[in-house]
Amino acid sequence: MAYINPDLDRPGINVPKLLAMKKAGEKIAMMTAYDYSFGQIMDAAGIDIVLVGDSLGMVVQGHSTTLPVTLSDIAYHTQTVARGVKKALLLADLPLLSYATLERALVASETVLRAGAQMVKLEGAGPMIDVIGGLSARDVSVCAHLGLTPQSLHKLGGFKVQGRDQKARARLLADAKSVQDAGADLLVLECVPSDVAAEITASLSIPTIGIGAGVQCDGQVLVVFDALGIGFGRRPRFVHNFLEDLAGKGGAISVLAGVQNYVKAVKAKTFPGPEHVY
Ligand code: KIV
Repeated sequence: MAYINPDLDRPGINVPKLLAMKKAGEKIAMMTAYDYSFGQIMDAAGIDIVLVGDSLGMVVQGHSTTLPVTLSDIAYHTQTVARGVKKALLLADLPLLSYATLERALVASETVLRAGAQMVKLEGAGPMIDVIGGLSARDVSVCAHLGLTPQSLHKLGGFKVQGRDQKARARLLADAKSVQDAGADLLVLECVPSDVAAEITASLSIPTIGIGAGVQCDGQVLVVFDALGIGFGRRPRFVHNFLEDLAGKGGAISVLAGVQNYVKAVKAKTFPGPEHVY
């Protein structure tokens, strides 16, 4: 132990703080960022968790899925975002198959943690339980991701809502419990019916972050481009344009104000509304 660098003494977000937020009922606001400038905006707007998501394959690189994203892509974008983020917890996605075995997951995690991430995110349960357990046993903070897992797109048959029937619902509940038991610190639930997400959230001690999963999750995440109305494709039901909201309200319209508007809505539990859920 040496003198502590004042940068490390910052009152930033960490795993114990996220647990305390869940306990206190304070909603967690998470959003993606892919570069330094957006990293700065996320921090200035009061975002709690900044995700360098493999969604960058779709919104930055122009692919139709997240599958082409590589570990070096994630590491590069994590490095740039890390230079802008001082308070939020920086979470980085592990891309397709980079965590298929514990050995690969350790190398991938080392790469993104050295790039500046504080937590890694990986999709699925089942064989991933041992990987989550192995990372967690080595003090790597892990965010699990269940429901619609975009890296399994071809197996799932498209970007579809998951956990609708009784069997799928029971499976989702069991998977959520097993990722927590394996040592995950956080759980993203994507495109699952809101009552299933609510039941999972109530049954876990770790925070859940929803995207298309309803207001009863402990927090929300959106892709920043979606939240600012940047994109030309079909808008998923769970997306809301937080920049458009500001028009005609008399205040400043800026990207920062748009992200602040998102944080305010998440904290006040006004987003997602009934029109955003399944
Ligand atoms: O890659 C990503 O941006 C994500 C979020 C949509 C949760 O995984």
